[in-house]
Amino acid sequence: MVHVELNLPPIPNYIKDDINKFLDEYLLTWSPTPNDGYREVYGEDEINIVKRKVLVGWENKDLTNFVNSVCPQIKEISLFLLINDSDMPGFMPPHTDFNRELAVNYILETGGDSVETCFFEQVYDPPIIVKEGFIMPRYFNEKNLTKKSSVIFKKDTWVSFDSQNPHCVNNISGKRILISMTMDYNLEGLIKAMPNLIKNEHTSF
Ligand SMILES: [Fe+2]
Repeated sequence: MVHVELNLPPIPNYIKDDINKFLDEYLLTWSPTPNDGYREVYGEDEINIVKRKVLVGWENKDLTNFVNSVCPQIKEISLFLLINDSDMPGFMPPHTDFNRELAVNYILETGGDSVETCFFEQVYDPPIIVKEGFIMPRYFNEKNLTKKSSVIFKKDTWVSFDSQNPHCVNNISGKRILISMTMDYNLEGLIKAMPNLIKNEHTSF
């Protein structure tokens, strides 16, 4: 199993409107720091890494209430922005998430029609990188990984995957906005514990 779609209703428009209003204001004043994006991570490789931001501590009460009402097991709701303001396709390199074992994501904005999430075989656990006081996601060089599958996640869908398996995102243009959440399971545990929550299961290619 690589990822699943979850059988949960779309977030109501009045909540999305509220979030978009907040984001428009936030992005007006956001000045990215080095922790929000890099142009080069692997020395000689020139790739356009998107700017990113997890809005820790952000809360929208209506969203919290809605999420609790449709799936009380979901926790730690935050807003995750991936921004590409260049003309080149943007890329979020292969990484494992530092803050969660199971990713539960709601795709608010895809960041383009051909944005692809790729999943790789699990490899050794690289050390946590601390840079300027921040714990960074654990990055991998794609050349050392074996790709298992790729998928274009659609807008307004709920998706879930083991985020301690390396994954990356390709072809981001503009803004990709996710509501980033977690649950106290790994993917296998989730499928076993809450089978009714699973809409579609997807394995490798
Ligand atoms: Fe991730």
